Amino acid sequence: MGRYEEVYARSLADPDGFWGEAAQAIDWDRGWDKVLDDSRAPLYRWFTGGVLNTCYNALDRHADGGRADQAALIYDSPVTDTIRTFTYAELRDAVARCAGAIAAQGVTRGDRVILYMPMVPEAVIAMLACARLGAIHSVVFGGFAANELATRIDDAKPKLIMSASCGIEVQRIIEYKPLLDAAIDMATAKPERCMILQRPMARAAMVPGRDVDWNEAVAAAAPHECVPVAATDPLYILYTSGTTGQPKGIVRDNGGHAVALKWSMKNIYNVDPGEVYWAASDVGWVVGHSYIVYAPLLHGCTTVLYEGKPVGTPDAGAFWRVIAEHDVCTMFTAPTAFRAIRQQDPQGTLLARYDLSRFRALFLAGERCDPDTLEWAQEKLKVPVIDHWWQTETGWAIAANCLGIEALPVKPGSPTKPVPGWDLRILDAATGAEVPRGTIGAIVGKLPMPPGCTPTLWNAEERFIQAYLSTFPGYYETGDAGYIDEDGYVFVMARTDDIINVAGHRLSTGAMEEVLASHPDVAECAVIGVHDTLKGQLPLGFLVLNAGVARPEAQIVAEVVQLVRERIGPVAAFKSAVVVKRLPKTRSGKILRGTMRAIADGEPYRTPATIDDPAILDEIAEALKSLGYPKRD
Ligand code: COA
Ligand code: AMP
Repeated sequence: MGRYEEVYARSLADPDGFWGEAAQAIDWDRGWDKVLDDSRAPLYRWFTGGVLNTCYNALDRHADGGRADQAALIYDSPVTDTIRTFTYAELRDAVARCAGAIAAQGVTRGDRVILYMPMVPEAVIAMLACARLGAIHSVVFGGFAANELATRIDDAKPKLIMSASCGIEVQRIIEYKPLLDAAIDMATAKPERCMILQRPMARAAMVPGRDVDWNEAVAAAAPHECVPVAATDPLYILYTSGTTGQPKGIVRDNGGHAVALKWSMKNIYNVDPGEVYWAASDVGWVVGHSYIVYAPLLHGCTTVLYEGKPVGTPDAGAFWRVIAEHDVCTMFTAPTAFRAIRQQDPQGTLLARYDLSRFRALFLAGERCDPDTLEWAQEKLKVPVIDHWWQTETGWAIAANCLGIEALPVKPGSPTKPVPGWDLRILDAATGAEVPRGTIGAIVGKLPMPPGCTPTLWNAEERFIQAYLSTFPGYYETGDAGYIDEDGYVFVMARTDDIINVAGHRLSTGAMEEVLASHPDVAECAVIGVHDTLKGQLPLGFLVLNAGVARPEAQIVAEVVQLVRERIGPVAAFKSAVVVKRLPKTRSGKILRGTMRAIADGEPYRTPATIDDPAILDEIAEALKSLGYPKRD
């Protein structure tokens, strides 16, 4: 039996022993009563009775334990031409003062704080400051529009919102404050205070009595101590796309999260304390939460916060520069970033300018890694390139090649094998029975999920049970379809719902359809995700107009494109739609989105027996042809 098999088998046979041992690597104010608490199964909790503080574990114990002068955070911002390093002592002090400033706004343990921030150190500091206070942060990605922010404000009901005057998108300044003000106007749950970071590129107008200047508040604050919280208390809420316009508030606890992430740094990424780890993502996504902020710091590493893009800031060599300049040993990003680099520098000529001799491994996640991109990265970087699969819900990898346990052979197209703690099965969607190896079905995890995964949805336990635990009783439904091959390798092929993945960003086509349907000229609509060589998928809309609408179709299309940008945000990358006479449906009225997607992608498809009129598929093909689909790579 190989080392991976051994560790994996133990994790399933003795979860209490396995995770109880892993939990020794965390400092607890009080030990747990139970490692795995199954008293409310199928709702499970980890480390019930335990008390700790996540910020203490991420900062203070390192600052006081010999790492005071080691770099904790390197802020590398090509868009502002800045590089700034915070040692563990400096970051701890900055976080303690920021926590004091947050507490001065009336925030205490259990209160929610929304962060709507660009990629600046203050974003990381604010997240850790909330953790220090036992307050629950909820970071909203900057590329979401005011309406999406408002939905999250109404769900989380924050006492305080922390934001900045602007973000920078390559050359463009995006003013955040007008979006924030609009969101608060729309929301019914108004925050008492907003703390606004004034960046020099754009100054925000302040609302008297509500808005406070971030730097002034921090300067006036006294450092705040770590507040001990229950292991099962929420550390954060992170909203992610569901199948409707109402996003799901994924909850992360303190105890299980700290244990799992600390464990993952050595066992999955094979990184040691003191080394430099870089996740090129955004703090608004789960990858940013787990692997820019919490995991590297819990492990005593140096983390890199990069305010830039893989290309254009200034060129396709940006990633190589950051790796070389900061001695990065391990990097994590989405395949789309590598597709963007490859598109601009197919031969990888810019690599020759940098010394990458200390770089050991590249990890990719966020979307399926196409074998082409994997092979290109392997050939150019000459290090292991590891695809691993996870979700906002899980907070860390479900399947990976655990380099710190045993490096297994890479199979392109597969994120390798289940991570210890995950008992993955493939079930037949119709019968719920397990399917033979090599057969595609719904990928599920036998309950309980390992520590660190979402125990519930914010204020929506019933929705959590309905969405994840009901279709296949006893299992967590990942929402992904795929298979496990003869060697036990997992292959994740597609979503089973209407979620699409655009440039590694998870988006709901259902939410976009809600926006299109709100246009006064639109009678019916559908949105599908079509293949895109750079972003993996792009949304594409189909509109059926109300009878008698005589306005030019192009104008209506432009209006719905603008509507999605305004209501969901530029991150949706919704740029094309086409007007059709009718939508293909089953006789029971279900829109055949899967068939439409197959036509758009030029894949073979069977005309469903239940279709009400097969001729509609020809009309759809014609409409797609007018937009240039199917596209040939
Ligand atoms: N604030 C405001 N707007 C933002 C934003 C932010 N934080 N982030 C993105 N946007 C905007 C972009 O400016 C763009 O607007 P546009 O339509 O006016 O051009 C739109 O949202 C889409 O952004 P993005 O998905 O980043 O596409 P892009 O074309 O600008 O760049 C890539 C393409 C591949 C370079 C980019 O997607 C990338 O770096 N991806 C890395 C993947 C990643 O970080 N994934 C996270 C999970 S690991
Ligand atoms: P998010 O919650 O934004 O992290 O998106 C999670 C979804 O992205 C998963 O359910 C998958 O559909 C997809 N995904 C993430 N990583 C991978 C991967 N390595 N391979 C295939 N799909 C992935």
